[in-house]
This record gives sequence, structure tokens and C-alpha cells, in this order.
Amino acid sequence: GCPPLGLETLRIDDFQLHASTVKRYGLGAHRGRLNIQAGIYEDDFYDGAWCAGRNDPFQWFEVDARRLTKFTGVITQGRNSLWSSDWVTTYKVLVSNDSHTWITIKIGDEDMVFEANQEKEIPVLNELPVPVIARYIRISPRTWYENGSICMRVEILGCPMPDPNNYYHRRNEITTTDNLDFRHHNYKEMRQLMKLVNEMCPNITRIYNIGKSHQGLKLYAVEISDNPGEHEVGEPEFRYSAGAHGNEVLGRELLLMLMQFMCQEYLAGNPRVKHLVEETRIHLLPSINPDGYEKAYEVGSELGGWSLGRWTHDGIDINHNFPDLNSILWEAEDRNWVPRKVPNHHLPIPEWYLSENATVAVETRAVIAWMEKIPFVLGGNLQGGELVVTYPYDMTRSVWKTQEYTGTPDDHVFHWLAFSYASTHRLMTDANRRVCHTEAFAKEDGTINGASWHTVAGSINDFSYLHTNCFELSIHVGCDKFPHETELPEEWENNRESLLVFMEQVHRGIKGVVSDVHGNALQNATILVEGISHDIRTAIDGDYWRLLNPGEYKVTAKADGYSGSTKNCDVGYDMGATQCDFVLSKTNLARIKEIMEKFGKQPINLPLKRIKQRARQRRRQT
Ligand SMILES: *[C@@H]1O[C@H](CO)[C@@H](O)[C@H](O)[C@H]1NC(C)=O
Ligand SMILES: *[C@@H]1O[C@H](CO)[C@@H](O)[C@H](O)[C@H]1NC(C)=O
Ligand SMILES: *[C@@H]1O[C@H](CO)[C@@H](O)[C@H](O)[C@H]1NC(C)=O
Ligand SMILES: *[C@@H]1O[C@H](CO)[C@@H](O)[C@H](O)[C@H]1NC(C)=O
Ligand SMILES: *[C@@H]1O[C@H](CO)[C@@H](O)[C@H](O)[C@H]1NC(C)=O
Repeated sequence: GCPPLGLETLRIDDFQLHASTVKRYGLGAHRGRLNIQAGIYEDDFYDGAWCAGRNDPFQWFEVDARRLTKFTGVITQGRNSLWSSDWVTTYKVLVSNDSHTWITIKIGDEDMVFEANQEKEIPVLNELPVPVIARYIRISPRTWYENGSICMRVEILGCPMPDPNNYYHRRNEITTTDNLDFRHHNYKEMRQLMKLVNEMCPNITRIYNIGKSHQGLKLYAVEISDNPGEHEVGEPEFRYSAGAHGNEVLGRELLLMLMQFMCQEYLAGNPRVKHLVEETRIHLLPSINPDGYEKAYEVGSELGGWSLGRWTHDGIDINHNFPDLNSILWEAEDRNWVPRKVPNHHLPIPEWYLSENATVAVETRAVIAWMEKIPFVLGGNLQGGELVVTYPYDMTRSVWKTQEYTGTPDDHVFHWLAFSYASTHRLMTDANRRVCHTEAFAKEDGTINGASWHTVAGSINDFSYLHTNCFELSIHVGCDKFPHETELPEEWENNRESLLVFMEQVHRGIKGVVSDVHGNALQNATILVEGISHDIRTAIDGDYWRLLNPGEYKVTAKADGYSGSTKNCDVGYDMGATQCDFVLSKTNLARIKEIMEKFGKQPINLPLKRIKQRARQRRRQT
């Protein structure tokens, strides 16, 4: 069959949509797009469908394809609304080349009446009995839900006819020169593609899994690094993940494309990709919720509606399923317990969450174990249904507020990270682009603080920041959660630069190694930056990475039993983290303890003064 014209993807612009009458502006023809979402208030300016101004059989909704098109089908939904129930139960279809003379689609001599919707959300596809060629197409509702009004959301299936002189089509066309596998990949195909890339680039890739889904599908990850399988001292670790909502599938395909692209470009000697691979350990986890994905994949790109496959098999929304550490931190802050009694970072997971009775998806537990095992520095999780990058916190401080700007102590860094993706995306910051649903994020530079959009407890971003060293952001890669396969090359072009630029940001700020005077690495040492109430810790090899914007910083390294050490570390505008190593010496108290342990239970005759003297001598010698 033919692909969608793009009412949902916005490839069809508002001026191509017309209607006989409209109920009000917020329900105008420009809102008659498949899967469009209403605002949360009744009578919202941006509402959830086209609704006719009158309920009679003379209404129509029209799409101007702006060129001759072979129309093959129509998909409809009712109105997205919390308040009302409106959908069309039968309609006729008309086509025209000039929008004056209309031909009704017939079956034999009779006008064909298509059976449409029985409720508001499930898309219903009607194929035309034979494809018809025309420029305009009209849907003319005949009957509708008896207690509702004429309201529809629509997608049209059609193939553009060859027309070398068509101005509009050429203007909108984006092509790619990258030779990637631009298809949707189900579980089996994804695994095959990973294997293929692994065979093509064995020196820089490794496939592993972080656990299994509820239904037993493996959560596959691909590592891209010049030393796959190993953490190299000083080399930061980066992660992209996607598909926590199984029906938001573009992120999954973008990561599979990125994997192919990195392999091909590495082999071709692309210096930028080589540099990334050599200086970074990159992990790609394309499908956090493979069970949900398989459900969405089965019905395909147009018929899943807005939510089929969103949840795990046992009905859990992974995006709200991480432990809420925000409440714990904020309560401690209100009592003035931070950082003396309660740390401002690496907050432990509460007991109840770890109990097997807690409503936690196996997929969430697998991701948490992954986050704890690898010393990630920066991460992005790809989502769908919007075009915006969100940064933490995702949760408001007051439970009564559903929307309120709630920045972390690293707000400036997070904003920069979000902007680095948004500003290099082909559309995200384009102020002329049409909004996906109700909010004009492009006007806010394509980024938004999560909590100021809508509050969420237990997000991966907040958890990552409060429980690990890793700074994590959510990247919403498109209005359409499950774009048609034919959209994938253009989506790759939209996102390719952003995907690379965002990974490169892992090399911003300072990094280094904390060791003792003998050169032994100090694991779990704390790195404090003056003025930012959020510390980070060194990894097993004593290495650390602290993302920071350009500026001058006073940085302190601390470890139990060692005297703290402070130095000034400057971060410049050029890419590449500033090296800032620390050597810590034992505190006198720790030395005394050590000596006492050596002497066991024997009484120590050395007076304290002499111990201190010796210690000083020893320090001078080393
Ligand atoms: C529109 O024009 C094309 C090309 O001339 C023709 O094949 C097609 O049948 C016309 N469609 C209608 C509905 O008149
Ligand atoms: C429509 O509303 C009437 C009155 O409230 C109710 O009796 C009837 O069952 C409704 N029809 C449907 C199909 O829900
Ligand atoms: C992998 O590395 C080995 C050793 O350096 C080299 O001989 C081989 O050509 C590399 N393979 C590929 C596919 O790059
Ligand atoms: C979990 O639930 C079972 C059955 O309801 C109960 O017997 C058990 O004590 C619970 N365990 C915990 C740790 O709460
Ligand atoms: C890391 O150090 C902190 C105190 O500085 C301590 O509470 C924590 O238990 C240590 N963690 C590990 C894994 O050693």
C-alpha cells in the first residue's frame, strides 16, 4: 500500500487542511490529524480533533495533497478528550482535481459508505476499493455517535504521482547520503542487525544484554569503543537508551542507525567518529521495553493509536518506575541535614523499593543494575510524541504543583546539554515549525525543565542524578511516536548531528584521578565543586568526570581517612575536559589508627607528638 501523506508527522501543513465548518478555532481543520492530543483543559485553544460547527450530513474534512496523488486509504479516530465522546461512525469519500467538481467513491453504482469508529482512540483503516488519482480528498461524515458531535482525526494513505515540475514536493524533500538500513526492526531483526554490525566492526563493538523483559526477551546493548568490554582509566562512559515506552519507536531506530553509522564511518576513517570511539566508551540500549514494542510493531506504524505498547507486559510505565529520591533529599534539606547527615548525591535506594513486593518492572530493575555497574557520565533516553529535550528535575518540590520550574544544582550544565541537542537538530529550535500538540517548545529554544512541563515522580533522569554520577536527559525525537518507514531517512538527517554533538558533550568539564601518596587509586572519593551542592564520586580506578560549563572552579577531593585537597580547575570553551588530578595523604588520625592496628593489643609507648613528627618526616620523604 501507499504511505501516509503526513497529517500526523506535520509533513502536511495547516494550509492544506480545510473543513466545511468548525466548532471553534481550537477544533479547526488543522487539528484533524491522527493522534493529535488535546490540551488538558476543557475548551483548550489546542483541542483534540477537527469538529464540525453543525451536526448534519453536509459536513466535510478536506486534504489538499498539492499534487496528483494515488489515494489508497483513509484512517480515522474520534476526538481526544477527557470530557466528551465524539466520533464518526460512517463516512463517504470524495476526490477532486480542482476542489470544485467532486467524484464520490462508489461500489458498483452506489456511493460507498465506509464503517468508521466505535470509540475515540482506536484508529480505523478503510482501504479504497480501487486506488484513485486526484489532488484533493474529502471525508464526508454520514453518521456519528448519537450523544456526540462530528469530530475526527485523520490520516490519508497515498503515493505522490511523478511530477517533475511540482514545486511543493521538491521543497519539502530531504534525502540522505548515508547507506543505512532504513526500516523498522522487530526483536529478531534488531538482533540480526546488531550481529551484522558486530561482524563488520569486531574491533570496536560488543553486544551484551543487561537482563530480560517480563516475557523473556533480552535487553540488548551495543558497546562502541576502541577497547570493547573494558573500562579504560580516564575514559568517560556514555549511554543512549530508547523505547521505555514500547510504542515510541523512533529512538530505537535512531540508535540502530547510529550504530551502523559509527561502524561505517570508523572503517572509512572519519576523524570525528574515530576520535569519539577512541576517547569514549559508548553504550546503546535501543529497546528498554521490547515486550511493549512487539505489541506496537504487530499493528504497525499507523494503527496503534497513542498508547498501544506503552507499558511493560505487566502494565508498568517505566518512565515513572524508578525510586523517588527527590522526596528523600528535599525532606532532608528542609531539616538542614544535607550534606552532613544525608549526602547531596548517591542517595541510597529505599528498602521498600528493593523488596520483591514493590511494583517495579523487571526491565526497570535491569536498567538500575546497569546504571550502578558502569560509571556513566552522561546519558540520553530517547522518547517520542513530542519534539523537545527535557532536563531534570522532572518532579516539582511541592506535591500540589503539577508544573513548576525545578532545577538541579547543575541547572546551567543541564540546560547547556539540552540545548546542545536541540540546537543542532534540524527542526527543534525552528520557531516557524508547527507545534506537535499544544505546546510551542521551539520558542523556548527546544528545551524545557521536566518539572515545568509536567511533574513526574520516579523518572530515570532524577534517579540517575541523585543515585549515580550520571547526568541524564530525555530527548523527545518527534511528534509521531511510530513514524512510517518512509520517514526514517529524513528523521536520521534531522537527528544525526545532534546525536553526535550530544555524545561529544561527555568531554566537557573536568576529569582526573584521585590517588594516595603511593600512587594507589582511591575509589569512592568525593569530588566537591564550590558553589554546587552536588558531589560526585570516583570510580574503581580512582578516576572521575565532572561535567561543568566553562568557568573557573575551586574543586576539592575528599576520602575517608585522608586529608582533603583543594585546587583551582579552569574549564575552557574548547572541547576536551580539563585534567585535574588529586593526591591525598592520610590524616594523622588515620595514621595513628594504622599504627595501633599494627601493634595490636600491645600498649603503645610512643607519645603522640613523636608519631606526628614521624608522619611529617615520612610525608617529606615521599
Ligand atoms: C485527475 O487528473 C488525472 C490526470 O489527468 C486523472 O488521471 C484523474 O482521473 C483525475 N482525477 C479526477 C478525480 O478527476
Ligand atoms: C445517549 O444518552 C442517553 C441519555 O443520557 C442514554 O440513554 C443513551 O444510552 C446514550 N446512548 C449511548 C449509545 O450511549
Ligand atoms: C581489527 O584489528 C586488527 C588488529 O589491529 C586488524 O588486523 C584488523 O584489520 C581489524 N579489523 C577490522 C575489521 O578493522
Ligand atoms: C510480600 O507479599 C507476601 C504476600 O502478600 C507477604 O507474605 C510478604 O510478607 C511480603 N513481603 C514483604 C517484604 O513485604
Ligand atoms: C563511599 O563513601 C561514603 C562516605 O564517604 C560511604 O558512606 C559509602 O559507604 C562508601 N561506599 C562504598 C561503596 O565504599
